[in-house]
Amino acid sequence: MYDNMQIALDVSAVTKQFVKAKGLRWPWKRKNDDGRKPVVAIDNVSFTVRRGEVFGILGPNGSGKSTLVRCIATLLLPDQGEIVVFGHNVMQEEMAVKRLINRVSVEASFFKKLTPMENLLYGARLYGMEAQDSRKQILAILDRLGLKKEDVYRPMEEMSRGMQQKVAIARAFLTQPILLLLDEPTTGLDPRSKREVQAFVEELRDRHDATILLTTHDMQEADSLCNRVAILDEGRIVALDTPAGLKAQVGRSNGHEVTLEDVFMELTGKQLHREEEAA
Ligand SMILES: Nc1ncnc2c1ncn2[C@@H]1O[C@H](COP(=O)(O)OP(=O)(O)OP(=O)(O)O)[C@@H](O)[C@H]1O
Ligand SMILES: [Mg+2]
Repeated sequence: MYDNMQIALDVSAVTKQFVKAKGLRWPWKRKNDDGRKPVVAIDNVSFTVRRGEVFGILGPNGSGKSTLVRCIATLLLPDQGEIVVFGHNVMQEEMAVKRLINRVSVEASFFKKLTPMENLLYGARLYGMEAQDSRKQILAILDRLGLKKEDVYRPMEEMSRGMQQKVAIARAFLTQPILLLLDEPTTGLDPRSKREVQAFVEELRDRHDATILLTTHDMQEADSLCNRVAILDEGRIVALDTPAGLKAQVGRSNGHEVTLEDVFMELTGKQLHREEEAA
């Protein structure tokens, strides 16, 4: 069975470093110090994703999730290592990779004065789709994602972030990417919208031939949607397994069933929701 299993994504020993400004420094200390220090955002990361798999990346703020996604999406060049998408190297065959993938991130950009329908028709046209067909498809996807009919024809700038997120997901889906990269698809959504987006991802997984890489802070989401989950901490993968496998690694039973949250705490010594708790 393993022989003809296709590899959708192969990330091999990828490292990505940024140079960050340090902020204020004393002038007399500047001599041998240009004030910039390197930050290793991704540190020797390797994993493979099989065709049809939903692969999750869990990690605290700043652990490198978005950087990794941007490297896979050909938006950033890794310093070291290799990334191959369905046999195409992201560095040598950028265009081929771009045709196979689509990325949804929290900073999705739209024509703000235009409606979701107009934005999506524009996106569909870029991918050479017929306007008549795409119109129907757009309505169906947006309805599927729980966007109200009246919102389909309102300017984007009047929409809440959650609504915009749904339009971004619809736009990515419309191009039928064979590898879909979802960077925190449900962060900031209300519980109902969150469930709608999660159900959509499940539908993609079960009924369409899509491979999905998603990042999340939501343990339950990772547990229910992902076939396998990698836990990223300070740019390194500290664990990679099925949700059940990860939970089995933490054998300690203190009266309750082990959750991914327990696994995460055990492996990183950190809580995931620090920022949200503080808010
Ligand atoms: N363009 C950039 N320039 C400098 N440093 C960057 C840049 N992009 C990311 N970084 C740094 O790389 C590290 C990883 O950031 P990244 O955005 O990948 O984290 P993340 O896991 O997506 O976090 P979050 O959960 O907050 O989205 C951080 O230390 C961040 O400050
Ligand atoms: Mg991020």
